[in-house]
Amino acid sequence: MTTAASADAQQAQPPASIAHPDQWPVLPMALKLDPKVEARVAAILSRMSIEDKVGQLIQVDIASISPGDLETYKFGSILNGGNSAPNNDEFAPASEWLKLFDAFYDASVKRSDGRPVVPVIWGTDAVHGANNIVGSTLFPHNIGLGAMRDPALIRKIGAATALETAATGIDWSFAPTVAVVQDDRWGRTYESYSEDPAIVASYAGQMVEGIQGTIGRDFMKPGRVISSVKHFLGDGGTGGHDQGDTRVPERVLRDVHAAGYMTALPAGALTVMPSFSSWNGEKMTGNKSLLTGVLKDRWGFQGFTIGDWNAHGQVPGCTNEDCAAAINAGLDMFMYSGPKWKDLYANTLREAKAGTIPAARLDDAVRRILRVKVLAGTFEAGRPSSRPMSGRFDLLGAPGHRAIARQAVRESLVLLKNNGGILPVRPGASILVAGRGADDIGQQSGGWSITWQGTGVSNRNFPNGQSIWSGIEQAARAAGGTARLSVDGGFTKKPDVAIVVFGETPYAEFTGDRPTLEYSPDDKSDLALLRKLKAAGVPTVAVFLSGRPLWVNPELNAADAFVAAFLPGTEGGGVADVMIAGKGGRPVADFHGKLSFSWPKRVDQFVLNARDPGYDPLFPLGYGLTYADRTSVGRLDETKPAVAAGDQNALFVRGRIAGGARISPDGGATVTRTDRSGQEDSLRIAVKGEGAVAIEQAMPIDITRESNGQLSLIVDYRVTAAPTGQVALGVADGAKLATVPLTGAMKTGDWMTAAVPLRCFADQGVSMATVTRPFVLTSSGTLGVDISGIRIGTAPAGPVSCGVR
Ligand code: BGC
Ligand code: BGC
Repeated sequence: MTTAASADAQQAQPPASIAHPDQWPVLPMALKLDPKVEARVAAILSRMSIEDKVGQLIQVDIASISPGDLETYKFGSILNGGNSAPNNDEFAPASEWLKLFDAFYDASVKRSDGRPVVPVIWGTDAVHGANNIVGSTLFPHNIGLGAMRDPALIRKIGAATALETAATGIDWSFAPTVAVVQDDRWGRTYESYSEDPAIVASYAGQMVEGIQGTIGRDFMKPGRVISSVKHFLGDGGTGGHDQGDTRVPERVLRDVHAAGYMTALPAGALTVMPSFSSWNGEKMTGNKSLLTGVLKDRWGFQGFTIGDWNAHGQVPGCTNEDCAAAINAGLDMFMYSGPKWKDLYANTLREAKAGTIPAARLDDAVRRILRVKVLAGTFEAGRPSSRPMSGRFDLLGAPGHRAIARQAVRESLVLLKNNGGILPVRPGASILVAGRGADDIGQQSGGWSITWQGTGVSNRNFPNGQSIWSGIEQAARAAGGTARLSVDGGFTKKPDVAIVVFGETPYAEFTGDRPTLEYSPDDKSDLALLRKLKAAGVPTVAVFLSGRPLWVNPELNAADAFVAAFLPGTEGGGVADVMIAGKGGRPVADFHGKLSFSWPKRVDQFVLNARDPGYDPLFPLGYGLTYADRTSVGRLDETKPAVAAGDQNALFVRGRIAGGARISPDGGATVTRTDRSGQEDSLRIAVKGEGAVAIEQAMPIDITRESNGQLSLIVDYRVTAAPTGQVALGVADGAKLATVPLTGAMKTGDWMTAAVPLRCFADQGVSMATVTRPFVLTSSGTLGVDISGIRIGTAPAGPVSCGVR
């Protein structure tokens, strides 16, 4: 076993973070500089003012800027972050996206000073389909696609995604992710095709050609969009930490992590996104030897680099509004979110004028951006709504696209266990479908599905989707059998077989980072359900939804058959296609998927890759049964070594207060302990007269990132004595306490959960970068309340508001 810690301990001397471009391959680029294109770019560039040039270097999130602003500020691009949408409505119809783009576009091309008009382009995360748009086809996340080993299908998925994106007028997608993830605790593992560089390489170029078209054939023709290969470089090697540090020798960076670029760039990828993460301690966004030395000079990349979300602000000496260092290192366009984009523009302009950003560097960056815009047809495309595919909303969830997605689902499922050959389910059988994931299109789709975190959605937000349950029900009926949905697994008449669908609930980026590989350490109800069915003598099939391989030995033992379904997306019917036999006795397809990530035998096998010495997986890379296999999986060890656990966003969990903090009662408040699930695992708070209880940090904590999204302060509680006054929940920095009312949620009775979006506190002016008390409960009267958990996380589905009066 290798853990990040032991690998670190061996590094007495930190390895260098300056690359040697001459030790990297030269790439066979299909896209050659075209003299006609270059002459046109040069002509535009020569007529641009320095203000125009600096404007092109900036991309701003639509949540931070209005169309009218582009009349004055001629920025190169806009984007919608995972949470940003027209009219602040993530469920806005596709027509609103198009309308908003028209408005931005019109403003960007409006000018009367005679200088060149350079239309704005719009970037979006179409990472598994046009996933921000209601009605789009959501394909399996990359981890599932990796299991297909089907590059030709990847290409079709890219093309369908581009078409659905183009239907909204949007011309640029931040995909594909070509991370070669090595440590599956990382919250973005599902965005990776494989731990194996060869699989990533076999897909990256195909995906780019699917999105952009093929050079010399249909490159950037109508219905194609610009792709962005991300995140350059080594994003998959950060030891399971989002935005972390990849500590590897240059050879590993080159031979493992760069694999996707070897095919994506020769295929003509027009943009590359430098990573938030570091290499050997240095932020990628500021690493000149890699951005310029390797990517541009050695590999010959002629497109432009687009920063990640305010990532430049993390380069030493920089802020979100000021970072010449990133541009000088080779970043061509800043991705900015926040209210102070005018400052970013003013600072960059000042630095360009002063030569802090050399004129040659500025021109090179702008030339690259203009080149991409010329190649993408931006100058001729016209208003977004006038483009060939624009407004073709029938493309969203089009039958042909759904068929591709359904095929991808069929091919991506990996059969881990099929003892006694209980699958396929025989025609005519009575099937019980259970589990929390059975009828939940949001859960089967994971993060980056309408919302950034993939939370707060329900089946009706996927008008062109189908749940796994619904697919099974259809297939069962077609085969002359019956299916019944019972989430908790209850039944009156014993079914012939049970299918239990369960697994991880959606997350994106850092909210998905986990301390160990144990599936659901705090909630074993799925396991209990499997065991209940087993005890009742019902043959049981587990369908496991997850963004990564996880330690599920107890669940594997409790099921007769086990299918790793990863995050299949909106075509739940593809699951039934392989599991349920039709009238002729055969299912639509056999299992095809082979693991693209090794499956752990123990909870502490964080870094488990086929190349490692002492490789000891439960199921190796490439494993996957078919109906021809007679393999039986024996009973697995259910003991687990104690691993230092600790959910990074937990403030108080299982009786423990997160490191460096203490509980402090104030005024008439007292705090003792009581039991919920374990001995003394909860706080018992009593307030007499008036008082408050807070979690006091030893050092201020920075929860800015958590506050800009959908994350909430979440409290699990039970009221033991109703309040006689007003109760509020608060967050404080050293100077200011912001509170939101909670009185209305203080009803005596059962355990409950309250969630208050962090932005409710941020909006009141608390400095989220220096929070000293991330939890404050105040009461102006008598109150009794027990608290079993306090954390920062994704609120349970349902409306969230800034307070219950
Ligand atoms: C945005 C995402 C972005 C993230 C970065 C979110 O608020 O919606 O697009 O990736 O912040 O932390
Ligand atoms: C993510 C990128 C994404 C960007 C825009 C960032 O937080 O790391 O993958 O493209 O946000 O949403």
